Amino acid sequence: MSYPYQIKSFEAYKEAYQKSIQDPESFWGEIASHFTWRKKWDKVLEWNFTEPRVEWFKGGKLNITENCLDRHLETKSNHPAIIWEPNAPDENNRVLTYRKLHEKVCQFAHVLKNNGVKKGDRVCIYMGMIPELAIAVLACARIGAIHSVVFGGFSAQSIADRLEDAQATFIVTCDGAYRGAKDIPLKSVIDDALIGNKTIKRVIVATRTRTPVSMIKGRDVWWEDEMKQVEEKGVTFIEAEEMDAEDPLFILYTSGSTGKPKGVVHSVGGYMVYTNYTFVNVFQYQTGQVHFCTADIGWITGHSYIVYGPLSAGATSLLFEGVPTWPDAGRFWDIVDKYCVNILYTAPTAIRSLMGFGLGPLQGKNLSSLKVLGTVGEPINEEAWHWYDEHVGKRKCPIVDTWWQTETGGCLISNLAGITPAKPGWATLPMPGLEMVLVDENGKEVIQQGDETISGNLCIKSPWPSILRTTYGDHERCRTNYFATYENMYFTGDGALKDKDGFFRITGRVDDVLNVSGHRIGTAEVENAINMHAGVVESAVVGYPHDIKGQGIYAYIIYQGSHAQDTHGTGDLVRRDILQTVTRIIGAIAKPDKIQFVSGLPKTRSGKIMRRILRKIAEGETENLGDTSTLLDPGVVDEIKKGRL
Ligand code: PRX
Repeated sequence: MSYPYQIKSFEAYKEAYQKSIQDPESFWGEIASHFTWRKKWDKVLEWNFTEPRVEWFKGGKLNITENCLDRHLETKSNHPAIIWEPNAPDENNRVLTYRKLHEKVCQFAHVLKNNGVKKGDRVCIYMGMIPELAIAVLACARIGAIHSVVFGGFSAQSIADRLEDAQATFIVTCDGAYRGAKDIPLKSVIDDALIGNKTIKRVIVATRTRTPVSMIKGRDVWWEDEMKQVEEKGVTFIEAEEMDAEDPLFILYTSGSTGKPKGVVHSVGGYMVYTNYTFVNVFQYQTGQVHFCTADIGWITGHSYIVYGPLSAGATSLLFEGVPTWPDAGRFWDIVDKYCVNILYTAPTAIRSLMGFGLGPLQGKNLSSLKVLGTVGEPINEEAWHWYDEHVGKRKCPIVDTWWQTETGGCLISNLAGITPAKPGWATLPMPGLEMVLVDENGKEVIQQGDETISGNLCIKSPWPSILRTTYGDHERCRTNYFATYENMYFTGDGALKDKDGFFRITGRVDDVLNVSGHRIGTAEVENAINMHAGVVESAVVGYPHDIKGQGIYAYIIYQGSHAQDTHGTGDLVRRDILQTVTRIIGAIAKPDKIQFVSGLPKTRSGKIMRRILRKIAEGETENLGDTSTLLDPGVVDEIKKGRL
């Protein structure tokens, strides 16, 4: 498969960019014509950002799995689609060719149907990183069910909230999941999530860890038993459901500045075209190469660059079950060596963590297959960039710094590997079709004068094919969150710089969202969880710079529980209880790194917590706190400064 829309020079990028802005319909229409459609669209694009309403390839009919699987069968049926590397290095790996993956997806699509799943139903998928996860995702897409993958680190409470919000009726899960030295009892977490649930009709459980599970009669069935029934009938195919280009493909929950995660909805046609286009261009994928994206499919990066982008391009996608530091910090390098990985796409937090182990783990590992390196999820500091460049890429692999979001579906700002220039710490240029602007607090576009570097809030003036279409069940929330801050613009929530060459550098979130190890966490969400603890009166959560995680979570807590006296000592017991509460309510990823007990919080006379002050103290900037005269009780600030951890 060749990619006629693969950009091959900086000049060609500039041309494509020009064309995409001048005439987006013919630009994207031409790219979309290289995919398999049951019926061609009537109109490439209709949109307004006031409702908002965005429709790409309107009237087009397709199924994304015909593009990810069927269309490769003629020429690539024996090519590996998914290479699976298990958690333990001595366990056998698995390779699923395009033919095999197609067969398994069709069979599991039958299983879903046999269990009552219909087009439009919401299916929650809560699994570890095993091939069955990708199979479940694609099988949903095959029959037009809407998948909602929940990362395996989220708690029962988080799952319950997501099931409720999506009104999900089916769950696909595993008995357990291996992640490094840990064995996570997924089914048991699902059982907890289902206490009191009235909508779930069936739970399909795949076997992985053989952890004992309680299978509830009439509700729970085994993946293997169900598959066997289909296999024994010799069934290997299922007709794909014909989907409208604008039908929803999936929901993925992400954190915002309010307490409740939102269900970002992506639709079939635009998401397919855009993830494929960016996969082929950003990474400059060449047929036969092995692409290793280290994300979990529970996040958008896994959806777009392990599953849909690579498979729609007929690529080989490596799916790794474990973690970079187990059994030792050489694991990524072993995998690169073992499978001759050509493209490695990971998060700065992983690079920083591996840097901490020195060069030892790299020794004796053959990394010469690597052609392209990528990063995603958070700003990359120059030290980590250079380490990645020098010790992993051996100074011969371009590094793509890809900026994007759950809501954007695919990369929006990134250099194209080896084609457009890179600049350490800078995501650089927008992808074709992306009209990025920087806006000041009043919503006025910041205009660049001469060679100056400008800064502002990052907004986008017009839609790209994989922009979110809504937040599930609450379109108004989508409007107020993304399209109401600045008129006629999508607001990213990020601040950015733009230099004289038009390169962008993302400086981080400007709202109350944290980025911890590349994971997005809302401060309000963490506060709500902390406040659930019986002894907590009030709390305020902010981020602070963390060497490895990028940002750490700093919680200021007013505590008056029965163990209050302990907070005057080390407070360790209470701290542990609070961490346990957060783990229960959200999951371990949201645990505060630092907890400071305080007797009061800095509030304005109207009762608003002044987070700016708390942020500065957490960052260690205790001297220059700005104007504190509007505080109800300025004395509180001194106490907090003294007790800083
Ligand atoms: O702040 C930006 C940061 O991650 C946020 C999006 O998080 P999420 O929806 O979880 O998606 C992460 C993976 C696409 C953004 O608002 N971010 C993402 N990529 C970068 C980044 N910050 C700086 N540089 C990046 N390359």
